[in-house]
Amino acid sequence: MQKIINKNKNGLKGSVNIPADKSISHRAVMFTSLAKGESIIKNFSKGQDPLSSLNVCKTLGINAEFKNDLLIINSTGKLSAPSSNLDCGNSGTTMRLMSGILAGQNFNSTLIGDESLSKRPMKRVIEPLSLMGAEIKSNDYKAPLNIRGQNLHGIEYISKLASAQVKSCILLAGLNAQGKTNFTEPYVSRNHTEIMLQYMGANISVNNNTVTVKKSELEPRTIEICGDISSAAFFIVAGLIVPNSKIILKNTGLNPTRTGILEVVEKMGGDVQILDKRTVSGEVVGDIQISYSSLNACTIEGDIIPRLIDELPVIAVLATQAEGTTIIKDAQDLRNKESDRIKAVVTELQKIGADIEETTDGFIINGKTNLKGGVEVETYHDHRLAMSLFVAGLICEKPLSINGFEWVNISFPEFEKLFESLSL
Ligand code: S3P
Repeated sequence: MQKIINKNKNGLKGSVNIPADKSISHRAVMFTSLAKGESIIKNFSKGQDPLSSLNVCKTLGINAEFKNDLLIINSTGKLSAPSSNLDCGNSGTTMRLMSGILAGQNFNSTLIGDESLSKRPMKRVIEPLSLMGAEIKSNDYKAPLNIRGQNLHGIEYISKLASAQVKSCILLAGLNAQGKTNFTEPYVSRNHTEIMLQYMGANISVNNNTVTVKKSELEPRTIEICGDISSAAFFIVAGLIVPNSKIILKNTGLNPTRTGILEVVEKMGGDVQILDKRTVSGEVVGDIQISYSSLNACTIEGDIIPRLIDELPVIAVLATQAEGTTIIKDAQDLRNKESDRIKAVVTELQKIGADIEETTDGFIINGKTNLKGGVEVETYHDHRLAMSLFVAGLICEKPLSINGFEWVNISFPEFEKLFESLSL
């Protein structure tokens, strides 16, 4: 589907409720599926990726029903052997976290994915799971993953990657393994798994960059899911770069392992204020107020990268509007996302007139540039590319045509409607 974006001339005004966090939604449905009894999930994401996790859990025998805004999960505490392949769709989180859960079951299973997911690296989970005694056959370390359930044992694993998916996979395997499992990462990645496992009564402890779990039974819970800061990011950037904007993004998750974008915006001189900070189901939540600002370039590198990894495509758009040279480094894993996001962002932003260059592990962006538009751009089957280009389109001189805009539905089906509500 092609979408044409016109320049926004009046500024974005008003407030929106940010829809449910994708990462937390995946975890909520998977973890409550492992807990004996009834759990209630409030505000489960309507994105296709979390729905893939929900469908996988249903195929594993879990009873899940929507009642208005509630998702009611009933589980015996045990998963059952699936009668078909488990389809993870486009979702890396579903495949990587489920592989940790399935490796220690007393049945066999096969995880499959769409074309993009079938190209993504799975060695990062297969290798440590194998050290725990898992038996996984793959297509050269890519999907489909054929998992023969085994009795697992704990390991002490030092990961080269700061990846919440790898960490979560190993911790979930550790919940069902003999002995203790230790996972250490170079920098702290998003910690929703640790927070939710603690909230559900698991035997888990955290010491700096190391998380330890022991064999545990989870207890059913009511989990309320906050808004996704990765979805809010598109509004944060739009509010900063569209002249005359002033918007409030309500009920946004502010977990410090996710708020790298707010630190960057502050560093660039953007006007961001946090209102009404509170805690919901163990997660920090608040309202974010954003106003149009003049911005300066900055360097983004090191331990902040895992805290804003999904926001880098839209941060690249932001950097085109900052005075000076913005350098983004240490983000080589961006090449392993739904698309090679370094190549895709550079190729498409160059088409609309940005001064941006590809490096092996990031970008160099010179600003401030007038984005021209008046061209067709591609989304590479990547939802975050589609939304980042939409935001760029709001300040292009001529209309911007985005091909493959429907990929937005992977994480954020409400995206366009919410933007429209701020443009009245
Ligand atoms: C996620 C972790 C991140 C992120 C992805 C969601 C998660 O991936 O990019 O969108 O929910 O754990 P990595 O673990 O590969 O960095």
